[in-house]
Amino acid sequence: MSESRTQVAIVGAGPAGLMLSHLLHLRGIESVVLEARSREDIEATIRAGVLEQNTVDLMVETGVGDRLKAEGYEHHGVEFRFGGRGHRIAFDELVGRAVTVYPQHEVNKDLIARRLADGGDIRFGVSDVQVHDHLTDRPYLTYTDPQGNPQRLDARLVAGCDGSRTSTRGLIPEPQIRTDHFRQYPFAWLGILAEAPRSSEELIYARHERGFALVSTRTADVQRHYLQVDPDDDIANWSDDRIWSELHARVDGEGAEIKDGRIFEKSILQFRSFVCEPMQHGNLFLTGDAAHTVPPTGAKGLNLAVADVFVLARSMDEYLARGDRARLDGYTEEVLPRVWRAQHFSWWMSSMLHTHPGNSPFDNKRQDAELDAVTRSVAGRTLIAEQYTGWPLV
Ligand code: PHB
Repeated sequence: MSESRTQVAIVGAGPAGLMLSHLLHLRGIESVVLEARSREDIEATIRAGVLEQNTVDLMVETGVGDRLKAEGYEHHGVEFRFGGRGHRIAFDELVGRAVTVYPQHEVNKDLIARRLADGGDIRFGVSDVQVHDHLTDRPYLTYTDPQGNPQRLDARLVAGCDGSRTSTRGLIPEPQIRTDHFRQYPFAWLGILAEAPRSSEELIYARHERGFALVSTRTADVQRHYLQVDPDDDIANWSDDRIWSELHARVDGEGAEIKDGRIFEKSILQFRSFVCEPMQHGNLFLTGDAAHTVPPTGAKGLNLAVADVFVLARSMDEYLARGDRARLDGYTEEVLPRVWRAQHFSWWMSSMLHTHPGNSPFDNKRQDAELDAVTRSVAGRTLIAEQYTGWPLV
C-alpha cells in the first residue's frame, strides 16, 4: 500500500470539492481531491447553469472568473408567464443584483485548470474510496488508484463533496445522529439541449394548464429547455416533434415564441428535496449535494454547494492555523439556515408554477391568484428577486 499525507482529504471533484480545494489553497492549506470519474467526464457532464451573484463574485475575487466574465451571460431579470402573458421580475431594479448563465461543467473546467496550475493534487478515476477513523484526530482514506494499486491518504480533516449519490453521508449514523428530511414531488422535468437560436433574452418560467415549462439557454446557439412531465413517464414517449409542440403550447403567446432546432440531448430529471442534519460527524464534513438536494426550480443547487465550502474553508483555516475548533464545530448551524431558505424557495417556486395532479378547481384558482398577487406586488417581486439572486455569503 502506498501512502501519502495532506491536511484536508476531499472526496469528490465537482464544484464543491474543487472550490473547497481552491479556497483552502488560497489560505495556504494543502488538500488532495479524490474523484471516481475521469477528468473528461467531469468537464463534459451537463448539469445546472445559473450562478448567483455571490458565486460569480467569489469566482472573480479568487481568480477563477476570467472565462466566466468573458463567456457567461448576465441576466438582469426573469419572466414568469401565466395567463398567456409575461410578468418580469427585474432583478436589477428590485435588488441591484444579477445572475449569470454559465454551465456547471465550465465551472469545473476553470477550477480544475486553476488547481492544476497552482500545483493542486486531484486524483481522478479512483475507486473503493473509504473514510476511516473520522472520529479521531487522525482520519485516513483508503482507495484504489486507476492502475489497481491500493492507496492510503492520511489527513487531519475530511470533506465529503461527493454529490447526491454520496458514500460519505452514510458514515453519519442514521437515525442515532443523522436525521434525513426528504420530500418527493408528483412531477419530474424533461430537459433538452438543442441547437437553436435563443427563444428569449431572459429565462421564462411558464405556468400552463398543460404543465410547467422553462425556457433557458446555454450559449447563443445552444438552448436548454424543460417540460413538466409525470415522474413515471418514459423518455421514449417523447419524440422531438412532441417536445417542440408541447413547448409551443405551454410558452407561446403575447411577447414569446419558442424557436425550434435540433435536439441533441434529452432526459428526465427526478424532483426531490432533501436535507440531512447534522452535516458534520467528528472530522468529516459534508457539503453540497452530499448533504442536501433541491429541485431544480430556482437553480440553487450549485450555489448552495459554493456557499457551504466558502464557510467550511474559513472554519477549517481557523482550526488548522490556530487550533480553534469553535467555528468548525459550528459548521452545521452556520450553513443550515441558508440551506433551508433555499429549500423553501425551490419548493415555493415549484409549487407556484407546476400543475399538481389531483388539484381541485379551487386549488388551481388559488394558485393562479398566488402568482398574480406575488408578481403584481413590488414587495412580492422583490422577495423573488432577493431569493433568486441569492443571499450574500458573509
Ligand atoms: C438550466 O438552465 O439548467 C436551469 C435554469 C433555471 C432553473 C433550472 C435550470 O431554475
